[in-house]
Parts: sequence; C-alpha cells; structure tokens
Amino acid sequence: MNWLKEQTVVVSGASSGIGKELTKLFIQKANAHVIGIARNEQKMKDFVAELGESASHFSYELFDVSKEENWKNFAEKLTVQNITPALVVNNAGIMPPFNNFLNISLEEGKKVMDTNFYSVVYATHYLLPLLSQNGGVANIASSDALLSVGGTNYYAASKGAVRAFSQALRYEFPTKYIACVFPGFTDTNIFRDIKMSDKDKRRINRIISPTNKIAKKIYRALVRRKKYKVVGWDAHAFSMLSRLMPSGGARLVNGVLKKAKVDMFSSVEKQG
Ligand SMILES: NC(=O)c1ccc[n+]([C@@H]2O[C@H](COP(=O)([O-])OP(=O)(O)OC[C@H]3O[C@@H](n4cnc5c(N)ncnc54)[C@H](OP(=O)(O)O)[C@@H]3O)[C@@H](O)[C@H]2O)c1
Repeated sequence: MNWLKEQTVVVSGASSGIGKELTKLFIQKANAHVIGIARNEQKMKDFVAELGESASHFSYELFDVSKEENWKNFAEKLTVQNITPALVVNNAGIMPPFNNFLNISLEEGKKVMDTNFYSVVYATHYLLPLLSQNGGVANIASSDALLSVGGTNYYAASKGAVRAFSQALRYEFPTKYIACVFPGFTDTNIFRDIKMSDKDKRRINRIISPTNKIAKKIYRALVRRKKYKVVGWDAHAFSMLSRLMPSGGARLVNGVLKKAKVDMFSSVEKQG
C-alpha cells in the first residue's frame, strides 16, 4: 500500500527539474494533491498547462523559500484551511558557478546557505508540527554532501548541513519519516548560470542523468520510506569513495578533475 496515496504533498521548487518531475509522479502514481512552491509564476502556469487534466491535483504558492516569514505565513494558511500534509519535500535549491571561495562575496555565499539550508530549517520548523501522524520531511541534498568538489564551497556546505540536520532529526522525531536524498549530476536548469565550453558540455553529457530517471528513483525511495537515498551512478561512486577512503576519496576525485583540465573549474584553484 502506497502511504502517499491521495495524501497532500508539499514540494518546494516544483516548477522545474527534479521537483517538477517528482510532482508529476506524486500526482500520476499516488493520486496525491501537490502544493508546489517556487517564485516564478509563469513557470508555474506553464506547468499547470502541461499537467492538463491532472491539474486539479496541483495548486501552487509563490514565495521565496529562503525567507522565514514566508514559511510562517504558508503554515498559517495550511492551518486555517485545515490541510494536513503527509510529506514535505524540501527540494528548491540553487547552485552558483564553480569558483574559488575568495572570489565569492559573503553575501552571495549567504544566499546559497539561506536558499539551500535555512529554507529546510524554516520549512521543518513551521510544517513538521502540522504533518500527519506518520508524515515526514524529505530533504534533497547532493552527492556534494558525500564528497566535496573544490569550487563548490558554499553549495557543499549547504548540502552537508542538510545531511547532518536530517540525520539528527531522525532521532529526535522517531515516529516521523525524515529522509535525505543525494542525487548526482542531473540534467536540469540548475546549471543555467554556469558557462560551459563545448568540451565541458560533451564531458558532462557523458555523466549526467536524465531528470525523469532520477525523479523516478527518488519517488520509489520515498514511497518505500527510505531514509537515506543515493541516486545516480556518479553519486554512488562518491558515496563508495567517501566510505572506503574518507580523506583519500576527495583527493582522488579532485585530482582527476584537475588533471582533466575542465574549463568550468578554471577559477577554482588559487596559488599563494
Ligand atoms: N541538477 C543536479 O545535478 C542536482 C544534483 C544534486 C542535487 N540537486 C538538488 O536538487 C534540487 C533541485 O534542483 P534542480 O536541479 O531540479 O534545479 P532547477 O531545475 O533549477 O529547479 C530549482 C527549483 O527551485 C526553485 N527555487 C530556487 N530558488 C528558490 C527560492 N529562493 N524560493 C523558491 N523556489 C526556489 C526554482 O523555481 P523559481 O526559480 O521559480 O523560484 C525551481 O523550481 C536542488 O536542491 C539541487 O541542489 C541537483
């Protein structure tokens, strides 16, 4: 029996990429009602049109997940409407271009932490008390939380924080379902601000996974109430290396990237 059948699921970042594909699966396979969250209304409207007849299973809220007040207001709205979500998927996230830590302003870095980590904290703070008895929170981290790649500094930190936060909460709320998911490279819009040379694109295309394939794996894991899910072959490689070689794994991966002279990593290393 699918525990999400006909339940209400909240998905942040539902207008694009992994969140959008997951939303379709919750609707099509679990007949769930999804409340999607994102900022851009046009993308949401386009998604509603794409959903066609299933659109009656979807509603959306437009707000910035990095602001605490927005989650507070959203939780109040759910309470007034007597809505009890079964699952909150904290998926909205941003990834800045790969760069050396000192090339990134503290303000930019804080934005990454606020969007990728504090959004998860606010969502959990305000929505966990509203969840159904066996309900839960699923946090989308990244393979970068398993093994950090040079140039991802704030992004890696935000996802590492999501991983640690999820693990601790699991033991603080044993009757709730707390999941953390670690996808590898997935073909979404998250890389739109990252300038890639044709050589980089060809290389990335060899390792990147299609979004619907990754979303299907995540959906199946959530239905089975898996608490820790690594998805994508590159993420599995990161997971294995980090377990077998706790410090050498990162050295190996970062060494391979350096040797491969990947153009988008050109500003990562600073000498002196
Ligand atoms: N793609 C990958 O290779 C990969 C790998 C590992 C982990 N992940 C993680 O997977 C999650 C989904 O990413 P994706 O690859 O599917 O990216 P995506 O296609 O760019 O989608 C990101 C979604 O998040 C929303 N969003 C971003 N900032 C927001 C904010 N401040 N407030 C509200 N909504 C916001 C976007 O909508 P609006 O712009 O309209 O707000 C969009 O719906 C992220 O947490 C990402 O870190 C991705």
